[in-house]
Amino acid sequence: MWQVPLFDIAFSHQELEAVQKVLQSGWLTMGPVTQEFEGAFADFLGVKHAIAVSSCTAALHLAAVALGIGPGDEVICPALTFVAGPNSIMYTGAKPVFAEITGPNALTISPTDIERKITPRTKAIQVMHYGGYPCDMDQIVGIAQAHNLAIIEDVAHAPGAVYKDKLLGTIGTIGCFSFFSNKNMTTGEGGMVTTNDDALADRIRLMRSHGMTTLTLDRHRGRAHSYDVIELGYNYRIDELRSALGLVQLAKLEQNNRRRSEIVAQYIERLQNVPFIQIPFANFEHRSAYHIFPVLLNKPIDRYWLMKQMKSAGIQTSVHYPPAHLFSVYNRKFGYNRGDLPVTESVADRELTLPLYPTMEIEQIDFVCNTLRELLSRWL
Ligand SMILES: Cc1ncc(COP(=O)(O)O)c(C=O)c1O
Repeated sequence: MWQVPLFDIAFSHQELEAVQKVLQSGWLTMGPVTQEFEGAFADFLGVKHAIAVSSCTAALHLAAVALGIGPGDEVICPALTFVAGPNSIMYTGAKPVFAEITGPNALTISPTDIERKITPRTKAIQVMHYGGYPCDMDQIVGIAQAHNLAIIEDVAHAPGAVYKDKLLGTIGTIGCFSFFSNKNMTTGEGGMVTTNDDALADRIRLMRSHGMTTLTLDRHRGRAHSYDVIELGYNYRIDELRSALGLVQLAKLEQNNRRRSEIVAQYIERLQNVPFIQIPFANFEHRSAYHIFPVLLNKPIDRYWLMKQMKSAGIQTSVHYPPAHLFSVYNRKFGYNRGDLPVTESVADRELTLPLYPTMEIEQIDFVCNTLRELLSRWL
């Protein structure tokens, strides 16, 4: 229905064949293909452990659980993020303490505000690499070390992004990836937890599957006959069909990210001098994964009018994100309100996400930019 959708999936015969092979194998639940996917993901990142799970939300929850976060604890996180981040903290009974973003040019969590929000109850910092752009990890790692805090990296937007020679998801204590259908690599639903810590990895594997000491595959293969349940775990497993998709998608990630970066460069070239538009992360010094292309609209542009006009032209746009601290559940439970995070709120009120996906054609980029320019010129 859209002439230019917000995102698009580009599957080829490779994904089809990979899934077909799993179906023909007769083994669908977590097994050898998942092990292969985990191995390939760990190799790609250069990290010791990669543990595949059913979603990034599950990954974030397992990360908090493995770190022993619970009632009475606080975790500092951004509000300009998808709600799965703060929700995963709430699942444990801990309190998400929202920190500001750095500013309208860097929409990631502010190290200065992290430091300001640390209390004796703080256990961890959850960062989110917004749009694929790395957070200021040197500063954040420094703060975490000084205060003995863990770092959970939400890498949902940023597989393949690099901060000073380090791939994201390898800098913090634990990395959490999403393979949801709009992400840079997708399995429909799916996620991955990464860490270099053996004890955390063991605990994450245990909690992924009910806290059970053996897996179905071990019993099927006669390697185990029974099991114990040593913790109250979850069913956060992925399956072989998704892992097969993940392997193919991982192999395409770098090429797709490169294409995304070219499209963003073309967007910037066309939009940098358009009135009422500000482009965050201009002249960014690290390698992004270019997951989304956000722009900020200056006064007096009415964002919802603009989105409606773009929709009439066949162009899908979105907003990343309504800030999490303003959701009713966070107000009810913790009393967060408008005014708590003025920089985040101002950016969230002005943000508009334009279409971005690797198969986007140059004509589509032109069409989006020309339509936007024409609509904005009506406000001059
Ligand atoms: C920043 C961020 N974190 C977490 C998630 C949750 O991912 P999933 O849908 O895999 O649970 C998303 C997904 O949209 C996201 O964008």
